[in-house]
Amino acid sequence: MPQTVKGVIAMEQDAPVTIENIIIPDPGPGEAVVAIQACGVCHTDLHYREGGINDEFPFLLGHEASGVVEAVGEGVTEVEPGDFVILNWRAVCGTCRSCRKGKPQICFDTHNATQKMTLEDGTELSPALGIGAFAEKSLVAAGQCTKVDSETRPAAAGLLGCGVMAGIGAAINTGGVSRGDSVAVFGCGGVGDAAIAGSKLAGASIIIAVDIDDQKLEWATGFGATHTINSTTEDPVEKIRELTGGHGVDVAIEAIGLPEVYAQCFEARDLAGTVVLVGVPRPDMELTLPFLDVFGRGGALKSSWYGDCLPSRDFPMLIDLYQQGRLDLDAFVSEIIALDGVEEALHKMERGEVLRSVVEIDATP
Ligand SMILES: NC(=O)c1ccc[n+]([C@@H]2O[C@H](COP(=O)([O-])OP(=O)(O)OC[C@H]3O[C@@H](n4cnc5c(N)ncnc54)[C@H](O)[C@@H]3O)[C@@H](O)[C@H]2O)c1
Ligand SMILES: [Zn+2]
Ligand SMILES: [Zn+2]
Repeated sequence: MPQTVKGVIAMEQDAPVTIENIIIPDPGPGEAVVAIQACGVCHTDLHYREGGINDEFPFLLGHEASGVVEAVGEGVTEVEPGDFVILNWRAVCGTCRSCRKGKPQICFDTHNATQKMTLEDGTELSPALGIGAFAEKSLVAAGQCTKVDSETRPAAAGLLGCGVMAGIGAAINTGGVSRGDSVAVFGCGGVGDAAIAGSKLAGASIIIAVDIDDQKLEWATGFGATHTINSTTEDPVEKIRELTGGHGVDVAIEAIGLPEVYAQCFEARDLAGTVVLVGVPRPDMELTLPFLDVFGRGGALKSSWYGDCLPSRDFPMLIDLYQQGRLDLDAFVSEIIALDGVEEALHKMERGEVLRSVVEIDATP
């Protein structure tokens, strides 16, 4: 029987989000219904609400989540009811041209649920990143569920489902940060701080945090930044060169989504260095770079989709590091809120007051 649960909906562009009754169909073939336990507020939720991703309103927001599988549809073998899972937005297909080349971490045909969740009047919802987890329950493709140790704190585990994975992966997987490297991370929200934590895990020796907010820079230091730059009071490119013997960093990571900051990353890296874009631009933005320098400075300009992660490989590994005390996921959790706190949490994120507000839902019916 389809179930009616509460979910947080962005009905139209820029309107405050509201809590609505939503209808969750029984899972069909290849699908799973997950009772959500925790879901973090990511800047991408704000992008959806602002119409910056697409205009397929109404959106069921939330996509950085963990929960317990409640029911699975026909043919589902990878998870079963009772499993504690992190939801991912990369359920790899195994057959697209990228998967066939042995690169499932950039699968071009990822799976979402086939059936639609709806409002009570039948209006179909667009779940954020095919997940929609600011809700008591959500319908996803079974491949979007990655089973991890059920002893893990749900609020911490869920963060790996988007921003923290995107940041760690931007550094380690896309940027290839390794022992002894110098790294600069521009934008120290949840994603940027995760890039800092990832750089530290990989053994980078210089990790420079750049932000416009001193509080964010202080938090960045806690995640492993060795130097901080407030770019409203200092020129970040000059300062980064100064901190790296005049050369610039090996890897510069943009974790905001602004062309002017991307240009700073481009300038702040050493010859043959790497720029990684993990921040998501808005559709109206354009980038201008000195073309001769694109050639002359060499290296690589890369974009990082979801940290080039493979959930089945990376989530359990990062949960292990968390449990061993080597990756402080709890430090990303600024506050625990209820479903009705999402609107205020989006404003707190805009004002820069939090790294992650995390919605917790009591999973026991
Ligand atoms: N590529 C992916 O797969 C992926 C996944 C998750 C999130 N994202 C994107 O990553 C970006 C960051 O997300 P978040 O959740 O960390 O957001 P956030 O709002 O928490 O963090 C952004 C940070 O950038 C800082 N900032 C703003 N303007 C700046 C400037 N001009 N110079 C330096 N710092 C500046 C802010 O003070 C803030 O600390 C967003 O664009 C989000 O959509 C991408
Ligand atoms: Zn594929
Ligand atoms: Zn996200």
